[in-house]
Parts: sequence; C-alpha cells; structure tokens
Amino acid sequence: MWSDAERKEVNDVLETGILMRYGFDGPRKGIWKAKELEQAICQRFGSQYAQLTSSGTAALTTAMAALGIGAGHEVIMPAFTFVASFEAVLSVGAVPVLVDVDETLTLNPEAVRKAVTAKTKCIMPVHMCGSMADMDALKAICQEYNLLLLEDACQSIGASYKGQYVGTIGDAGTFSFDFVKTITCGEGGVVMTNNEDTYIKCDGYTDHGHDHKGNDRGAEQHPFLGYNFRISELHAAVGLAQIKRVDDFLSIQKKNHAALKNILAQVPEISFRKIPDEQGDSCTFISWFLPTEQVTRAVVAALKEEGILAGNFYWYDNNWHYIRKWNHLKNAASLYLLSGEQQQAILQLQQQDFSASDAVMSRCISTSISLLWTEQQIKDKGEKIVAVTNRVLQSSLHKA
Ligand SMILES: Cc1ncc(COP(=O)(O)O)c(C=O)c1O
Repeated sequence: MWSDAERKEVNDVLETGILMRYGFDGPRKGIWKAKELEQAICQRFGSQYAQLTSSGTAALTTAMAALGIGAGHEVIMPAFTFVASFEAVLSVGAVPVLVDVDETLTLNPEAVRKAVTAKTKCIMPVHMCGSMADMDALKAICQEYNLLLLEDACQSIGASYKGQYVGTIGDAGTFSFDFVKTITCGEGGVVMTNNEDTYIKCDGYTDHGHDHKGNDRGAEQHPFLGYNFRISELHAAVGLAQIKRVDDFLSIQKKNHAALKNILAQVPEISFRKIPDEQGDSCTFISWFLPTEQVTRAVVAALKEEGILAGNFYWYDNNWHYIRKWNHLKNAASLYLLSGEQQQAILQLQQQDFSASDAVMSRCISTSISLLWTEQQIKDKGEKIVAVTNRVLQSSLHKA
C-alpha cells in the first residue's frame, strides 16, 4: 500500500540530497530518517535498541556477528524457512544444523533438544508466515544448555507471543523490510536487541566497524572488523512512512484472515496450523492442512486448473522455503571455499531424515492474506477453495 506519506518522507531526503545515513551533519538540515525509523521501531515493538540494515539477510548476519557466532559453532534452525537463514549462518563461518518442524510450521522443540551438541551456540527459531514458534519451550532449552536465542522474525512483523513482539524476545531478533513484507523499505532490515553491548556491535558491524564516536567520520576508530550493511536514507524514509501505518495494515490483515478462515473451516477435513499464541498471529497467511499428501497435491492441481492458485503456496514443492529443494545447500555449491566442517555438515543433509517435517509440509497450503481484498472477494475466494477441496475429497473417497 503506497500513499502520499511515503512520497513526503522520500522528498524530505531528496530535498537535502543527503542519501547516506551517517555524517554530513550540516547539509542534512536535521533530516535523519534512519535514526527516526530506529526510534519508531523501538517504540512500536518494545525493543530497547534497533539497528537498521540493508536487508533482512544482512540483519541476520549482523546479529550473528554481534552475538559472537562464528567458526566452530553450530546454529540450530528449522528445515522450513527462507534460504537467507542458512546463508547468514554460513557467512559468519558457522554450521547450520537443520531440524524438523511440527504443525506450528516452526521449530519442533523436541527435535531441537535432540540436536544440541557441545558445539551448539545458538537456537534460531524462524517465525514463519506471520505466526510464531513455541518460545517458552525454546527459551527453556537455551537456559538449560546456556545457548543464545536469535529470532528470525523477518516474516512476522507485528506478531507477538504472550504479550511480547516476536523479534524482541531472544538475545536478538530481526525483521525484513523487503518488498513483500508487512511493511517495506523497498529493501531493508533491522536487528532488535535489549542488550546494549550487542547493539553497539551491530551499529559498528553494519558500517565497517566504525565506532560512531564524535562527529568527524574520518576520525572514527575501528574497534573491530565490519562490513557495509548500511541502509540508505531513501529506503529508511519509505519505512518511516510505512511504520506509521503498520497498525492499520495489521488490523486489515486480521479481519481478512478471520473472514477467510470462517469459510475454510466449513470443510471438516481442513485443519489449521497450530499457533502457540493465537492472539499474537499477525495473520499475513492462513496455513491449513489436508488429510494426506495425495489429497493436498490434488487440491493444488485443481486450484491451478481453476486459475485460483495464485496466493496459495504449496511450500513442499517450493524452491526457496523447504529443505527438499535446497540442492545448492545439500551439494555445498559455494562459490568460495567453505570450511571442512561446514562442508561436511551440509553434505550430510542429503542423508538426513526429514520425514517428520515432510509429513507436515506435504499436507500444508498457505494462503496469503491481501490488504486489498473486499468482503465480496474474500467470500468468492473462500467459496471457490471450499468447492475445489470438497470436489477433490469426494473423488478421493470414490477412488478409495
Ligand atoms: C524467514 C526469512 N528470513 C530472512 C529473510 C531475508 O530478508 P531479506 O529479503 O530482506 O534479505 C526473509 C525474506 O524473505 C525471510 O522470509
């Protein structure tokens, strides 16, 4: 959703011509969009500190570096996520340890517990498709084994768990503001944390290790190595307008989600994703299950035939989101040399048993919730999905 608000914020930056978030104190005439957006994120989501980055992927990488995750460490993460989650782990030299998801579509705490080794440094839940992981169970494991908790909340802006926004519960958490997220900067991301030391490290890491002390950028010190993961003022300006509208977006999402769920719930064979805190669902998607893979595949094929598949995602066959299709990872197809430890760990994914995740993902369809739907469109969409599903269920009954 785009409005004059975004244009106004971007124009403020264009008028000064200072597109960079640091320095140029005089000519920028008091316009600091990135800083303002960081403050707005802290205020809206209840985080003590926020560091903007150039993407959600950069935010995860930054958080890992700031938390001291690197060579020799293992990070436990789910087999259902976006490729960025393991890219970030590999980029800091650590090993991604992929484990099963359950009907929450996020980490199965029991699978996590079984995967803990002496090398485990961090558990990284991914709050997929607008909803959240079982944070109490994961926090308990972190406490028991003294592990870090890093939340990949890139897909769940505005979701909460027992009164706390996801991304602010662990040692650090990230959002993505890429073009398809609840609010966008075009490209961008953020690391949130309540730990000052972690924040200072994120702040420096995203800007070549600069300490950001004083107001002479050329004289700043570099207490540690960093990268350029800076967001630009133009991107931050878009995000600043968007965050002011996030409550409107979330309430439309929730309303549309409830209306569609009511219609889908008419089919007794449809069950819904387990949500650890129903109240906290940000409702970007409605994820539903059918009784078997065969029926699910037939429903997906029928939705396609009817021309209504768009917006309904069958992640089991998707190239981006599920271990099954991550051949580049499983073959360790890296352009640069990975460490022996990393190579060995990811090659063994070819043999690893993900049947528990397969049993969940092969029966799951996620329908994305649009902010633009009218009540009539939701009714039409829901009724078409229900008709297609009933037809497939009937014919599978006959075949049986
Ligand atoms: C779960 C998850 N993590 C990380 C990212 C990376 O975010 P970005 O696209 O901003 O790099 C995404 C983006 O879709 C995501 O879905």
